[in-house]
Amino acid sequence: MAQILDGKLVSQKVKDEVAAEIKRLAEKGFRAPCLAVILVGDDEASKVYVRNKKRACEAVGIQSLEYLLPADTRQEELDALVDRLNRDDAVDGILVQLPLPKHLNEQSIINRIAVDKDVDAFHPHNVGKIMLGVPKLLPCTPAGVMRLLEEYSISVSGKECVVVGRSNIVGKPMAQLLLAANGTVTICHSRTPDLAAHTRRADILVVAIGKAKMITADMIQEGAVVIDVGMNRSEGKLCGDVDFEGCLQKASYITPVPGGVGLMTVAMLMQNTLTAYKLHINI
Ligand code: GUN
Repeated sequence: MAQILDGKLVSQKVKDEVAAEIKRLAEKGFRAPCLAVILVGDDEASKVYVRNKKRACEAVGIQSLEYLLPADTRQEELDALVDRLNRDDAVDGILVQLPLPKHLNEQSIINRIAVDKDVDAFHPHNVGKIMLGVPKLLPCTPAGVMRLLEEYSISVSGKECVVVGRSNIVGKPMAQLLLAANGTVTICHSRTPDLAAHTRRADILVVAIGKAKMITADMIQEGAVVIDVGMNRSEGKLCGDVDFEGCLQKASYITPVPGGVGLMTVAMLMQNTLTAYKLHINI
């Protein structure tokens, strides 16, 4: 039976560390870090994510600014807001919640965010730094996965790592961080023939494909570490991309959904905001 990788416990530890450092800096007279979050439109999942990010900011002592814009916001309006936040010396981090409504150009907005305020690490400059193995800001979800592995002393070096999913937000940067930690990395995706042949070889399997319970016990190796980045609704209940009940018996470690990677993403955002703040005020 697998050990649960407890995202609740570890994310709380990360947030406690961030809160302690902000408190220490406040005692020295420094202002609080400030994160600006932009949400365009009414996507229900995005609203929940943004609410969770705001709550986490409050809990650790980060000031949060929320910009809730209507779904028909024009590109020029969004551009102007990002430009203003880039210039604002009181703002340390800027996050544009994705996905944006279809008429807006996501990559164009990401490119516009100041590199040192890009707390998602989605800007091409930050993506390049991750690729080169010299990141300043880390992509929140992959960084959260790495932190979970570290906390449970799961070594990546020399391991067969299989990432299922090739998104810019999770799959691609996840593969880079595993590679930087000396894993042997395979990226699989929707066009991979015989997916199970790959997933069965994985010592560490990270799944971010967005299909409820698609990784079943017969697709994993005995003793595999299974990380589930999925967040789906099935029969009204939240579930991941992994059939948790089935894989629980066979894996050595496994993340639950909810209570796993999702909480880590928010905690790492707090850590990134603190990093961006320190870059900004030069400490
Ligand atoms: N949408 C889903 N995940 C994320 C994330 O990590 N950051 C942003 N900005 N949008 C998202």
